[in-house]
Amino acid sequence: MTESYKIVTNSTNDEEKVDLDFINEEVTEKAYKFHSSFPQYNPTPLVELKNLATMFGVKDIFVKDESYRFGLNAFKVLGGSFAIGKYIAEKLGLDIDDLPYEKLISKEVKDKLGDITFITATDGNHGRGVAWAAHELQQNCVVIMPSGSALERRDNIRALGAKCDIMDDLNYDECVRLANKYAEENDWVMVQDTAWDGYEEIPTWIIQGYSTLAKEAKEQLEDKNQLPTHIFLQAGVGSFATGVTGYFASSYKGDKKPFMGLVEPEKANCNFITAEANDGKIHNVTGKMDTIMAGLACGEPVTVGWPVLKSYADAFLSIPDSAAARGMRIYGNPLKDDTRIISGESGAATMGALSEILQRKDLEEIKNKLHLDENSVILLISTEGDTDFAHYRKVVWDGYYTNDEDYQYKIMR
Ligand SMILES: Cc1ncc(COP(=O)(O)O)c(C=O)c1O
Repeated sequence: MTESYKIVTNSTNDEEKVDLDFINEEVTEKAYKFHSSFPQYNPTPLVELKNLATMFGVKDIFVKDESYRFGLNAFKVLGGSFAIGKYIAEKLGLDIDDLPYEKLISKEVKDKLGDITFITATDGNHGRGVAWAAHELQQNCVVIMPSGSALERRDNIRALGAKCDIMDDLNYDECVRLANKYAEENDWVMVQDTAWDGYEEIPTWIIQGYSTLAKEAKEQLEDKNQLPTHIFLQAGVGSFATGVTGYFASSYKGDKKPFMGLVEPEKANCNFITAEANDGKIHNVTGKMDTIMAGLACGEPVTVGWPVLKSYADAFLSIPDSAAARGMRIYGNPLKDDTRIISGESGAATMGALSEILQRKDLEEIKNKLHLDENSVILLISTEGDTDFAHYRKVVWDGYYTNDEDYQYKIMR
């Protein structure tokens, strides 16, 4: 429904913008070098949806399909693995450049480190990435999940040898606090994908780790002689969006910088309300964040990332669940010879939002505020595959979460 879509455009002027000191091309090189030393490493595919672009009246649409990342069905492992690598490098007094995969998993390193337990809170994807990295290093891992988490996601984490439980009655942010308490009590290492005052080093490394995919996307686009005019990024706490926004803002300066749009579920739109308030404070969403976009169900913006987003994200969008469901169906049912993409609820949020904004007459004002037109070359990132297999089918096969009844009449373009 129209009222479910909201937009705030950024009014930060150039003098107010922060320096990109912790997320830029140089640090991305380090993250990329680290990740590409893994035997599982391959750049994920960049898919061109030419027929869809024609139908939507834009020049081109490119989608980076992160379901192929390290066989884990989501991009998140890029952050957790880099943070763990950086943590170990610091512990051993090494530069991360001197700790490629072979050395990281060596007996020599394990003997020096002894036993470590890594702990994290997760909706699923981040925890799976941390559990995977801990498993590769033959270290221990404890993962805490919020109430309502999919059992399939929990079981995927357990399969990597981690101790993993779903907490009844705790939301994501409460699970983060519980994980932090356990870490302090037991001297475990907390590897969390969000930051707060006093806990900023590991989240910063996680943000840097995510930027590997941005570098890949930029190079893949350049190979096709393409420069994106728009990039849309889904946000939970905003760490992923910070990594990608920071990288692109650092490598494409001035007029070349693409228009960057953040997309959040209306029930967990903490970055959106923070941008909307524009009062120099961070604003949280509390309570049960009941959205199908489980990976984006976070109520507290990442403190280290927010200044980057406030400076370089051009628009903040708040969208309904029906948009994400539509995105999943569009990706799964391509036009003509466009490539099929299997994208989960959080992965497809940006495609769903874009499709409705480009097609619905009643969203024309938002389209104009995003400066979308026939010259737009759009980059989206499908950040996960069908990480909740059963729910994926409910949406794509059985049509769960379709929009309201007069929907047909709104698709007028
Ligand atoms: C599939 C997926 N996409 C996007 C995000 C958003 O990342 P962030 O919380 O860093 O904003 C998540 C977070 O878990 C996710 O699982």
